[in-house]
Amino acid sequence: MQRRVTFRLILFALAALTIPALLAACGAAADDNPQTTFDPAGPAAREIDSIYRLIWWLAVAVFVLVEAALVFAIFRFRKNKNLINGRPAPVHGNTRLEIIWTIIPAIILVIIAVPTVQGIATLAERDDDAFQVTVYGNQFYFEFEYPDIIGADGQPLRVVDEMHIPADTRIQLKLISNDVIHSFWVPRLAGKMDLIPGRENHMWFQADEPGTYLGQCAEFCGEAHALMRLTVVADTQEDFDDWVAQQRQPPPDDPVVAGQQIMETICATCHLVEGTAAQGTIGPELTTFATQPDIAGVVENNEENLHAWLADPPAVKPGTAMPNLGLSEQQIEALIAYLYTLDGSGGQ
Ligand code: CUA
Repeated sequence: MQRRVTFRLILFALAALTIPALLAACGAAADDNPQTTFDPAGPAAREIDSIYRLIWWLAVAVFVLVEAALVFAIFRFRKNKNLINGRPAPVHGNTRLEIIWTIIPAIILVIIAVPTVQGIATLAERDDDAFQVTVYGNQFYFEFEYPDIIGADGQPLRVVDEMHIPADTRIQLKLISNDVIHSFWVPRLAGKMDLIPGRENHMWFQADEPGTYLGQCAEFCGEAHALMRLTVVADTQEDFDDWVAQQRQPPPDDPVVAGQQIMETICATCHLVEGTAAQGTIGPELTTFATQPDIAGVVENNEENLHAWLADPPAVKPGTAMPNLGLSEQQIEALIAYLYTLDGSGGQ
């Protein structure tokens, strides 16, 4: 009687431990969990997912068999009559047992190693004929350059935070850091790859269907690391061509309008200007910039200093969190024109 109660208690404890884990594994739908790794949306992510699933089911089998053997042994050998000096007979020197528990793990490791090594090779393939994008990591935003698409300024097209790609097309990424180590990670499309200063890394992915895929910097890179997000928008070829055409439109003639556009794209990652699309919270608010006595607390607020600051912030204030954005002369002039309209009145 006592024995049956103990057995039921153990079964109950095992169920209590495993059922929540199994249920948690079910809640992997991308609708509720946009950064799930369990709902791959392209071949690169699927490759990783299939290796993960193989390892998971092997681990489940090992767990069930070992626990079953343990429970069996607990009850079967509870009253051991073959005690030697009050202890059970030792099992070392049992050649058959030792061969079995050496060979079985070795076979399991081979079953895991073969697809893993194949997967590593597949993911490391570099395809220079694929659609090329260069990813730059900056504290604290991602910047994407399309070397084969020339923008209105005659330079390769560059955008921040949101990368558009054609769906169902292999994308080859080159990853570069402008400051510290970051990690590019869009869980539904591919694994992580670091962006390392002074080094070029490479990876590829593909989104099978048009859609929006959220990503995140996955390497601690400073105070705003957790806010360093990105979005990959996979478009139909038609939508992608429209997006490129829109991006290639020349900047407006009016520098104030052009400046606001730059503010609402590049600067918006960090800065807030009330009444505009610039809603960043990392850097100082700029709603009343024109009325501030100084720039970044270090130099007098005048046009000359502002020009120097926008061209290379760390040269003006070493250690500042604002990186050199690589702005063109035209962009700097437009930003200066716009920033000096920001007197807090909200009008221009
Ligand atoms: Cu960039 Cu963390």
